[in-house]
Amino acid sequence: MKATVLAHPNIALVKYWGKRDDALILPHQSSLSLTLSPLSVTTTVEFGVPTDAVELNGHVAKGSERERVLRLLESVRAQAGDKSLGPAKVVSRGDFPMAAGLASSAAGFAALAVAGRAAAGLPRDTKAESILARLGSGSACRSVQGGFCEWQRGERPDGDDSFAVQRFDAAHWPELRMVVAILDRGEKDVKSRDGMKQAVETSPYYAAWVKDAEAEVPRAREHIARRDLQALGELCERNAWRMHSTSLAAEPPLCYLNAATVGLIHHLREHRKKGVPVWFTLDAGPNPVLLTDAANEVAAEALARACGALDVIRCVPGGDATLKSEH
Ligand code: DP6
Repeated sequence: MKATVLAHPNIALVKYWGKRDDALILPHQSSLSLTLSPLSVTTTVEFGVPTDAVELNGHVAKGSERERVLRLLESVRAQAGDKSLGPAKVVSRGDFPMAAGLASSAAGFAALAVAGRAAAGLPRDTKAESILARLGSGSACRSVQGGFCEWQRGERPDGDDSFAVQRFDAAHWPELRMVVAILDRGEKDVKSRDGMKQAVETSPYYAAWVKDAEAEVPRAREHIARRDLQALGELCERNAWRMHSTSLAAEPPLCYLNAATVGLIHHLREHRKKGVPVWFTLDAGPNPVLLTDAANEVAAEALARACGALDVIRCVPGGDATLKSEH
């Protein structure tokens, strides 16, 4: 009735930006990401306790955070078909700063989905786990498995065909590096959930974003298959620019970049002209993630620090969410 699971965060190379169904968290377009090691979140779920209790990073979760966790566990109970599971205790802890801009919620909800099913006595099933994780946070459906995962948008209104599948495991491209440049430790002004809603509802470019991102997913897959860093780097950058352009065109405009972000991007371009293979991607915040290879990760870190990075986290392709213990 108790299980502990470790999961890694992921960084989208082709971003998810906008929902067609807010309640079920169904996206308008497919996306593709890389799972990142060594960052991780460990989550324990125990059923059969006196009352529901949710603890995230040492704090009692409240409001919508708590609701999202409890809603996911309600789906676990439905899947188990077992009303006698009773209330649940959830304890979740990440080993990386929340302010890193990397959504720890992706790793957290992936770990919760896998631990929840295991604690309910259900067998491992990556599709069912990915769908469950998606109910917590969209990007979490891509953290159930390691390596390169593709969240297929699906067509069904019930979301049963909207989940992530692994295209290549972490061993496919071990030299690939993602270097997180923390330029700003502050909380972002507009959360992804609100920002993407604003873009869907008000950006005149939104339909173009959806069409373009959907078409980039198979291209990204081909570049990854060939381990073509330059082609993947260029694709990653243009996809990030297009997500941010769509958002800048929203009403009111959404600008996630700050001066340091723009400074780093210019600096990175200069480096590239000098032959350093480094590209960037940027989620809904000011902290870029640099894409490079093992031979250039030290140069990428130095570049980030020269541009004012307060901290730098060097990541490699990460593995699947793993069950640590089960009682
Ligand atoms: C920019 O998955 O955090 O990081 O589904 O509302 O919980 P919700 O949003 P979330 O959004 C992630 C947006 C992104 C791009 C991505 O990870 O694909």
